[in-house]
Amino acid sequence: MCGIIGYIGTEDCANLILEGLRRLEYRGYDSAGIAIITDGRFEIRRAAGKLDRLAEALRGEPVSGTIGIGHTRWATHGPPTELNAHPHRAGDVVVVHNGIIENHRVLKAELLAEGHTFSSETDTEIVAHLVSRERGRGHGLVEAVRLALLQVHGAYAIAALDRTDPETLVAAKNASPLVVGLGDGANYLASDIPAILQHTRRVVFLDEGQMVVLRRSGATFQHIATGAPFEPKVQVINWTPAMAEKGGYRHFMLKEIHEQPRAVTDTLRERVRIERGTVELDGLNLTDEQLAGFSRAVIIACGTSWHAGLVGEYLIEQFSRLPVEVELASEFRYREPCVDEKVLVIAVSQSGETADTLAAIKETQSRGSHVLAVCNVVGSSIVRLSNSNLMTHAGPEVSVASTKAFTTQIAALYLLAVKLGLARGTLQPGRAAVLLQDLIEVPSAIETVLETPASEYVALARRFGNATSMLYLGRGTSFPIALEGALKTKELSYIHAEGYAAGEMKHGPIALIDESVPSVVVCPMGPHFDKTLSNVAETRARGGAVIAVTTPSGAERIGSDADAVLVVPEAPDHVMAFLTAIPMQLLAYHIADFKGTDVDQPRNLAKSVTVE
Ligand code: F6R
Repeated sequence: MCGIIGYIGTEDCANLILEGLRRLEYRGYDSAGIAIITDGRFEIRRAAGKLDRLAEALRGEPVSGTIGIGHTRWATHGPPTELNAHPHRAGDVVVVHNGIIENHRVLKAELLAEGHTFSSETDTEIVAHLVSRERGRGHGLVEAVRLALLQVHGAYAIAALDRTDPETLVAAKNASPLVVGLGDGANYLASDIPAILQHTRRVVFLDEGQMVVLRRSGATFQHIATGAPFEPKVQVINWTPAMAEKGGYRHFMLKEIHEQPRAVTDTLRERVRIERGTVELDGLNLTDEQLAGFSRAVIIACGTSWHAGLVGEYLIEQFSRLPVEVELASEFRYREPCVDEKVLVIAVSQSGETADTLAAIKETQSRGSHVLAVCNVVGSSIVRLSNSNLMTHAGPEVSVASTKAFTTQIAALYLLAVKLGLARGTLQPGRAAVLLQDLIEVPSAIETVLETPASEYVALARRFGNATSMLYLGRGTSFPIALEGALKTKELSYIHAEGYAAGEMKHGPIALIDESVPSVVVCPMGPHFDKTLSNVAETRARGGAVIAVTTPSGAERIGSDADAVLVVPEAPDHVMAFLTAIPMQLLAYHIADFKGTDVDQPRNLAKSVTVE
């Protein structure tokens, strides 16, 4: 949601900023802009719509300069027009902003009464005016930004420039992500790492309430509240730029689906000790005694990460007998949750920046719970806030629709389930070794699923892609997989799709079935196969087409009872979710591709949901 880029150095930076913005496109946006200081004046170009429109504006009227900021805006206050696009200017100052200024009405009224005039409907323009007002009171840019931010309430990451001070780029963070890239004679700013990865791997993640002053010679850090300087923690990122590129695939999503064998392998690497039947979880700051002492676990997450949490619930309860609840962070945070120090809270998030999950974490920590983050982004807000972490090693996920993050989250939760089982004595090392062996065979089984010819999915997309409504059904861990299949379909192809526990069919959803509503039934051979087969029959009996996702022995049993079958390899029930997730992703991908929707950046969606 909104992307920020900043540069100060010796290179002409318009293209560098535009390229950085392209690498932030996945965050979702609907207008964009850039401001560069040239010979003591601002050159500002803005455009509604995609970055190509901004590139066009820059070709029409090129700009050059060695200090600048850029922004992709995801509209919150005011429609996505050129006038509302950032950067916003007031006097000698321009500002870009990610987040929401909650007290914008009060501040705007105050500024209007003082004679300030506004040219946009955004809350951001107010920040530019506040900084400009402080400049007018005689403060330098850095102090002016700090004093302006003390008047602002809300979530923000901002970057500001002053045309009379082309040696200084100031940025600050409160809630929305911001990373500083440290280069040689040049320094960078971005909302996310891939945007600056080709320039530097040395980064500092700003924490809440911190600001940075970038100059060509280096960066200095201070607290917004006091102005007091501090020494930052510099981290070296080991992602290569190629990891954030499309690598020959038509879409990031397809590339990321195909990266899953590698991503799951990386998530398991150096954590599984088959010979001893144990797991070692770096980042877990809990002893076995502490793990054994919890009375309950609560998993909090949103969207796809919530679905991974639901799979985790089955695994943790089965392996460790620890009761688990899985909660939508957006609901949980407002519910005065019943948690305390006896409850292990597991926060699952790809980005580590999801506002609802962050707020839910704070809520549980204030009640004494230990929070373990299952997260993909090192240094993200959720990782920094949590008491422990279990990193997924999916690598950068660019496509808005989450795929490899999902399977790596399940892998991390599987490891945690085994760890808990061992600590609580419900698993003996011998049994744990078997479960871990099943887990390390998952990447090659995923490879097998990925070998299914694309033509099978293309044919299904042609046959069912014009449906206006679809159902996804499953039992056991196939239920969250059905939910995930429905979510992928609706977000990518805008088809109304519902996921249900297959056993719920007869309690209502079966009324939806007719010839126009195809159902995807996740029914691998295993403990739930026979029951789910009955659901296939009930659906067919009402004229509904069925796409069965099953194993070879399941396909044999189903025979012609389904209209189409997608096959995954036979595997134990506790690893089946990894395998059935893949056809869900590929089917949704191919339907979207058939419909010609924007696969990597579906409408109205943002990769990193940093506002409520
Ligand atoms: C769907 C999707 C979203 C995210 C959700 C949570 O494909 O990607 O539903 O899963 O916005 O995001 P994270 O995991 O970053 O907290």
